[in-house]
Amino acid sequence: MYDPKNEIRKSETRPFNSYTYAGRWVTDEVSKNKFPEKSMDSRAAYQLIHDEMNLDGNPALNLASFVTTWMEDEAQKLIMESLNKNYIDTDEYPQTQVIHDRLMKMMGDLFHSTDAVGTATIGSSEAIMLALLAHKWTWRAKRKAAGKDFSQPNIIFGGDVHSCWEKFALYFDVEMRVIPLEVGKYIINADDVAPLVDENTIAVGTILGTTFSGQCDDFIAINDYLVKLKTEKGLDIPIHVDGASGGFVAAFAFPELLCDFRLEQVKSMNISNHKFGLVYPGMGTVLFRDATQVPEDLVFHINYLGGSMANYSLNFSKPSSMILAQYYNFLRLGRAGYTKIITNIMKIAELMEKTLVETGKFDILTDGGEKYLPVAALMLKDSSRYDVFDISQELRRYGWIVPAYTMPPNAEKIAVLRVVVREDFSMDMAENFIENMKQIIEELEKRPKKPEIEQNGAHGVC
Ligand SMILES: Cc1ncc(COP(=O)(O)O)c(C=O)c1O
Repeated sequence: MYDPKNEIRKSETRPFNSYTYAGRWVTDEVSKNKFPEKSMDSRAAYQLIHDEMNLDGNPALNLASFVTTWMEDEAQKLIMESLNKNYIDTDEYPQTQVIHDRLMKMMGDLFHSTDAVGTATIGSSEAIMLALLAHKWTWRAKRKAAGKDFSQPNIIFGGDVHSCWEKFALYFDVEMRVIPLEVGKYIINADDVAPLVDENTIAVGTILGTTFSGQCDDFIAINDYLVKLKTEKGLDIPIHVDGASGGFVAAFAFPELLCDFRLEQVKSMNISNHKFGLVYPGMGTVLFRDATQVPEDLVFHINYLGGSMANYSLNFSKPSSMILAQYYNFLRLGRAGYTKIITNIMKIAELMEKTLVETGKFDILTDGGEKYLPVAALMLKDSSRYDVFDISQELRRYGWIVPAYTMPPNAEKIAVLRVVVREDFSMDMAENFIENMKQIIEELEKRPKKPEIEQNGAHGVC
């Protein structure tokens, strides 16, 4: 029987309105930095966090990132089904390992080595560290065997690299020989590399699709130079290709581009599956040309999870879900599907760049140069009233997240606005974006000229 006194008693022990919007339940201050003393209703905890996440940007409008923001429902279902599987438990989840190994073979095939070996990583940073560590070990073993000094390894790369390359050099005690960029030259070539190479060079780093411009280092010339060096002087220096962003783009949109194991000195590569492999964050891959590139003393043989397994990684535990999601995409899309998607986004990026240039306000950063990423990278012709940072700021009004940045040394006086096109950025969205851009430019054009001191010059300069 209904007894109103019971209801009152209930409301003394339970929050009075926890049945509706969970947020109303939380009248107490929510602990932010101190470990919470009390428990909380699950709905309330969910709602609180869900609400706080509304303060983040909208991933679909995040045109700063190369990382996947949309996957098909079936892929998401597989991800949910495998969220509770730790990839490292290979004895317990042997089939996940089987699928992982298939992926490595498929990627070996994609990048033209039938003997390739590799491992999934958390992202390209881990993959690059593992590849470069292997090269450092191989170089050291050779020096030791020859009775030579092995205390001063160096690595050569351009200023167009991602910061994880510098991290590697710093963390693993390798001298960085960085080739600075120049205004109008945002990649490296053989002539840049040659003066820096010596017998202590563990590897030359090259970028397949730089974050800054979407261009590629001159792999072919660098490879030819290193092959010649090997033949003439016996110095066998490996190339590592950083295909974090451009690996899958090149494989499908530029299959003729020699940027992988078809080049003799390319001994290792990294690819971010969570970029144009089209899976969500949490997966990269390091691939070696063949097993001889991985020094045996870097591989751990572990038996405490049951069975025996070889492990070459920096992280131990990692999610299985992106590995399965990647397998889903490979099966679902195949070469035909990936080619369609990648060529489509390249076309959208090109069209968008062209349309923005037609406003008369922008120049293309890589004018005349080929681009291997679906990006529009633009410089302002005239920064006397507003600059690319102002445009980036104003775009936020519409929800668009577009980065403006200065180029690395010695090209830092060039400031760029860069838009990345991903699969979920349709032509329709591109049109909306262009409309918003035009509106912003029209408004910014009304601004008075900045005082001389705030204008750092003319062309595309911040
Ligand atoms: C060229 C390049 N290399 C490496 C990385 C690092 O990749 P991750 O974020 O997967 O560690 C990035 C990230 O954007 C990149 O663009």
